Amino acid sequence: MSAENITYNGQADAPANNRIWRGRLTFVMAAAGSAVGLGNLWKFPYIAGENGGGAFVLVYLACILLFGIPLLMAEIGIGRATRLNAVDAFGNLAGKAGASKGWKAIGGLAICTSYLILSFYIVVAGWCLYYFWITANGTFNTAGTTIDTAFTGGTFENLLGDPVTLIIFSVIFLLITFSIISSGIEKGIEKAINWLMPSLMLMLAVLIGYSAANGNFEAAVDFLFSADFSKLSSEAIFIAVGHSFFTLSLASAAIITYGAYMPANSSITKTAFAVAGIDTLVALTAGLAIFPLVFQYGLEPGAGPGLMFISLPLIFSDMPYGQLFGSLFFFMLFIAALTSAISLMEPTVAWLERRFNLRRKTAAGLTTLSLWIVSLGTVFSLNIWNSPVFFGKTFFDALDYLTANVFMSFGAMATAVFCGFALRQPQLEAMFSTDPKAIPVFRVVIRYVVPAFVAVLVISAF
Ligand code: PHE
Repeated sequence: MSAENITYNGQADAPANNRIWRGRLTFVMAAAGSAVGLGNLWKFPYIAGENGGGAFVLVYLACILLFGIPLLMAEIGIGRATRLNAVDAFGNLAGKAGASKGWKAIGGLAICTSYLILSFYIVVAGWCLYYFWITANGTFNTAGTTIDTAFTGGTFENLLGDPVTLIIFSVIFLLITFSIISSGIEKGIEKAINWLMPSLMLMLAVLIGYSAANGNFEAAVDFLFSADFSKLSSEAIFIAVGHSFFTLSLASAAIITYGAYMPANSSITKTAFAVAGIDTLVALTAGLAIFPLVFQYGLEPGAGPGLMFISLPLIFSDMPYGQLFGSLFFFMLFIAALTSAISLMEPTVAWLERRFNLRRKTAAGLTTLSLWIVSLGTVFSLNIWNSPVFFGKTFFDALDYLTANVFMSFGAMATAVFCGFALRQPQLEAMFSTDPKAIPVFRVVIRYVVPAFVAVLVISAF
C-alpha cells in the first residue's frame, strides 16, 4: 500500500493492518501508554540513584526537550505519512525522496531494538506480577510489627535467585501480551488505556502524599533537584541520553508503528508535547514517591534495580490498608508495563505480517516463542549464569546497555539525519500535514540541533 492513495478522515479507511486509533485522545493515551512504563517507574529512580541524582536528572530533562520531543514528532510523522511498519516506512519515504533504499536498515535496527528490549522487559514485568501476588497475599502485612529493609531486600534477592519463579511470572506476562497482540489491539487496549493511565497517575499522587508525610521528603527533593555536576561521570551522561530515548520509546519502531495508526487530523506537535509531558511527570513523580523512603529508612540510593522493590514494600507494611494499596500499586505497575510491552511487540509482528505474508496470530506466535527463549538469557544471568559476558556486564546488563544506550543513540541520530538531510520538502509536508507551520523549525532542529547534541553528549561520555 502506498501513502498517496490513502485518504483519511481520521476514522474510516483503515490503514495497513486495518487498525486506526479511534480518537485524538486515544492516540495520546496509546503513545503515552507506550512511553510510560518500567522505564519511568523502575528504571528512572534507580539510575538517577546510581548516578548521583540532581545533575543526572537535569541532563535527562535537557535531553527530553532538546531531542526527545523533535524525534517524537519525526517518528509519529514517519509512521503516519506511510502507514507502514518501520522497515517499509523508511524505505517508502527514502524512495519518494530519491534517496537510497538502504535507509530501511534504520527501521530494521529499530525493530531489533524493541525485540531485544522486550526480551528483558518481560522478566522485570514478571517481578511486578510476582510482587502483586505476594503483596496481595499479605507477605508485607506483618500485623503491627514493622518490617525492615533486611526483610524486603531478602525477599527481592530470593526472587532473583529462583529461576523457576522468574520464568513462570515472565511467561504469564508474555502470554498476556501475546493474547492482546494476536487478537488485535483496538478494543481492549484502547478502552483499558483510557482509564488505566489516569488511575496510574492518581495512584502515584497518593503514594507521593504518603511518602512526603512519612519519609524524608526534603532530602529526596534535594537529591533529585540540586545539581552537583562534580558527581556526574561521563558514563552517567551517556546513560541519561540513552534513557531519554528509552523512556519516550524512541528509536525502537514503537512510535513509528503506532504513528501508522494515528488519526490523520491530530496535531503532531501537540501530541508530542503531551506524550513527553506525561512521561516526564510520571518519572519525576516516581522519584518523589521512592526517594523520601530511601532516605528515611537509610537505604542506599544507588541500590540498583531492586530499589523500588525493596523500598516500597516498607510503605505498604506501615500504611493503613497497605495490603490493598500495595497490591493495587504493583498491579498498576504491571499495567504500565503491559501497555509498553504491547508497543514493543507490535513492531516485530507488523513487520513479519507484511514481510512474510503471515497471519497475525502466526506472526505473534513466532515472536512470542522466540522471545521466550531469548528471555532465558536474562533470567539465568540473575542467578546461575551470573558472570560477565560483555565489558564486565552480565547478559541482562549488557542487553540493557546495548539497546537503550548504543542502539538507540545510533538509531536516533540516523533518524535525525534521515529527516534532516535525506527527506525533501514534499515528504516533510506529508509527515506534517496537520502542522505545516512546524516544518521550518522542525527542519532546523532535526538537522542541526538534534545531531549536534546527541553527538556532543555521546562523545563527551568517552
Ligand atoms: N518507554 C518504555 C518505558 O519507559 C519502554 C519502551 C521502549 C517501550 C521502547 C517501547 C519502545 O518503560
